[in-house]
Amino acid sequence: MTTHTPADRAVLVSLDLGRAEARESLEELRLLVSGAGVTVLEAIEGSRREPDPALFIGQGKAGEVAEAVRRLDATLVVVNHDVSAVQQRNLEKEVGVTVIDRTGLILDIFAQRARSAEGKLQVELAQLERLSTRLIRGWTHLERQKGGIGLRGPGETQLETDRRLIGHRVKLLKSRLIKLQSQRSTQRRARARSGTLNVSLVGYTNAGKSTLFNRLTSAGAYAADQLFATLDTTSRRLHVGDGRHVVISDTVGFIRHLPTTLVAAFRATLEETIHADLLLHVVDASHPDRDVQIESVDQVLREIGAGEVPQWRVMNKVDALGQPARVEPAVGGDCGSISAIWLSAASGDGVADLRDALSAFAGDRNVQTIVEDDSTLEAIPYVAERSAVGAS
Ligand code: GTP
Repeated sequence: MTTHTPADRAVLVSLDLGRAEARESLEELRLLVSGAGVTVLEAIEGSRREPDPALFIGQGKAGEVAEAVRRLDATLVVVNHDVSAVQQRNLEKEVGVTVIDRTGLILDIFAQRARSAEGKLQVELAQLERLSTRLIRGWTHLERQKGGIGLRGPGETQLETDRRLIGHRVKLLKSRLIKLQSQRSTQRRARARSGTLNVSLVGYTNAGKSTLFNRLTSAGAYAADQLFATLDTTSRRLHVGDGRHVVISDTVGFIRHLPTTLVAAFRATLEETIHADLLLHVVDASHPDRDVQIESVDQVLREIGAGEVPQWRVMNKVDALGQPARVEPAVGGDCGSISAIWLSAASGDGVADLRDALSAFAGDRNVQTIVEDDSTLEAIPYVAERSAVGAS
């Protein structure tokens, strides 16, 4: 259901609707669009007090966009907001090329990137659920159209047929998801029984989770300068010395203004997070907007019920900040408890401190020895590089 091709050349449109972060989120849109393999030709900005009911961006701005599309020979317009199906269609008529909105774009990227069976099912479900609401709201013109032979039930309009077919598929996908989720929870229970410590990496998209995951586990998982390079949870076993190990999971990146339907669709992927013993909240410490990013991740964590799980901040990319790696103890915390670790996943600086801290954490929790029968996890050897960090 991809709405664009990688060869697309796009004009972006972003409006300041009175929200302070408009410029920042245009930068994010640029990253999203290029992450989808689309070339960005021009970004057009504007401001309005309220969206235009017919075109979202208003007649004048639409004319400006149409002019840019013609001048630059663009094939796609990406609107940095959620537009209704009607506004999208009207805008397409104005500009003469395909228009996609922010949610549509994110869904497309999710569709391109999902790797596990569960991830793919979740993406398709989110796409269909969005499609069905748009059918109701904007596609009433289909009521009058003729449908495909053999698909339509007696007396059904095309719209009813579409809704029925989508409804069937949604039901099927949901039941498959439930099956997969129960397999996942069986695996989790097996780990809990074995006394394994579960650590989840969470963080804003592009914070460096996959790079850190690779660094910690020396596994060749995927790291790329693209938003949402990781869509599915990947788990690996990390030995932390003395025969102990923790299971560490990489998770999907968080993003601001992720539509609620998507958050809901990805909840299952993030379920790993709720059941974790410890969250490593990876932050791009060099990002100008890092505090807002931290808050949006914490907010999603609260929403999915993971607000109470112990959390260490991993302030990544210290190399880009020109600062040394360091461990920040929790204010008033017990000996060995940590509030933040500043490191560079890319250079490896400070990663040993994190490993040592994990080892100490596992020691405190009196974690037992390895489960040998857990074939879904890959054993990664660990060589202790430094002594355990205390409250240094
Ligand atoms: P999502 O999959 O979108 O959630 O991203 P992620 O959090 O897994 O980020 P990823 O590991 O893919 O890294 C994103 C970008 O940041 C890549 O270009 C990395 O090379 C870069 N990066 C990661 N760690 C560091 C670091 O310590 N320093 C610097 N300078 N760049 C880093």
